[in-house]
Amino acid sequence: MTAQSTTRVTGPDAASIADAARILAAGGLVAFPTETVYGLGADATNGIAVARLYEAKGRPAFNPLIAHVPDIGAAQALVAFDRAAAALAAAFWPGPLTLVLPKAAACPVAALATAGLDTLAVRVPNHPVAHAILDAFGKPIVAPSANRSGHVSPTTAAHVHADLAGRIDLIIDGGQTPVGVESTIVACLGEPMLLRPGGLPREAIERVLKNKLHAAPAAATDNGAAPLSPGMLATHYAPRARLRLNAKHAEPGEALLAFGSVSPADAGRAKIVLNLSPRGDPIEAAANLFAHLRALDSAGAGTIAVMPIPDDGLGEAVNDRLARAAAGR
Ligand code: TXA
Ligand code: MG
Repeated sequence: MTAQSTTRVTGPDAASIADAARILAAGGLVAFPTETVYGLGADATNGIAVARLYEAKGRPAFNPLIAHVPDIGAAQALVAFDRAAAALAAAFWPGPLTLVLPKAAACPVAALATAGLDTLAVRVPNHPVAHAILDAFGKPIVAPSANRSGHVSPTTAAHVHADLAGRIDLIIDGGQTPVGVESTIVACLGEPMLLRPGGLPREAIERVLKNKLHAAPAAATDNGAAPLSPGMLATHYAPRARLRLNAKHAEPGEALLAFGSVSPADAGRAKIVLNLSPRGDPIEAAANLFAHLRALDSAGAGTIAVMPIPDDGLGEAVNDRLARAAAGR
């Protein structure tokens, strides 16, 4: 049950959940929905399974993974919480927040999963299918986004299949993921630091901390230096097409990724138009972002013109992913 087998796709019925748990226990790979994006799961305590996961994704082995657990109690067996981390977990778990914390002494997570770091990223997802699998399996599951390395994250089972068919054992189809961008990552290793904007808005976190989040050091977002959050390399999330950000309208032949209202003249020049949120809602835009990028990419446009999106709320995560996609080309 490894890379070369055929990949089954099933709904989230009880028999399939039991299958997923059996496959994980045998060191196999199962893709499943979370509230953010689909994850590619492996037994976090099995170094061989984790190695297969890196191979299936084509991911550089130095990029550490997030351990998914069912609740705070399970997380406490893996990592040490300081006061800020405890407050954030109490406020936002289950939910789209990942905490990077010092590994506990007896942490059973395979060293390969953390790429040798003495910290571990943990999160409690907020999705019934993810929870059913975590409950049935009974151990932490490491799960990066279920895409080939460098591709945009999958928000449907079909996206996962397009990237990973033949390379993983099972895909549990739980429909479209509601949030649509990956979790927000905060390191609590001293002053809480935002490593990746994501599905939980910065403002909500700062309200609980009663403090501004510190910015990640430049190395975390820079290709080259040893990064604190290596997945933040600029080349992450790159579609094939070139991206032209802050476009007021499409040039002839470009694809247009719109936001808010679009005048017929602006849209008329475009080869194809998809709107992240006609009503200008950043939450809706996040949910549509990766599916629209994939669709415009498959439409074969050389350049995707992207209309400006305000930075508030989930707009920060949307703009972060767009900037990375643009820099990756
Ligand atoms: O929403 C999500 O977080 C999804 C779903 C499946 O849970 N997962 C996800 O995983 O986005 P992935 O592997 O695609 O991104 C995880 C990010 C990477 O940028 C990685 O470098 C960072 O988390 N990361 C993991 N462990 C870390 C650590 N110990 N220190 C700093 N960054 C870490
Ligand atoms: Mg990813």
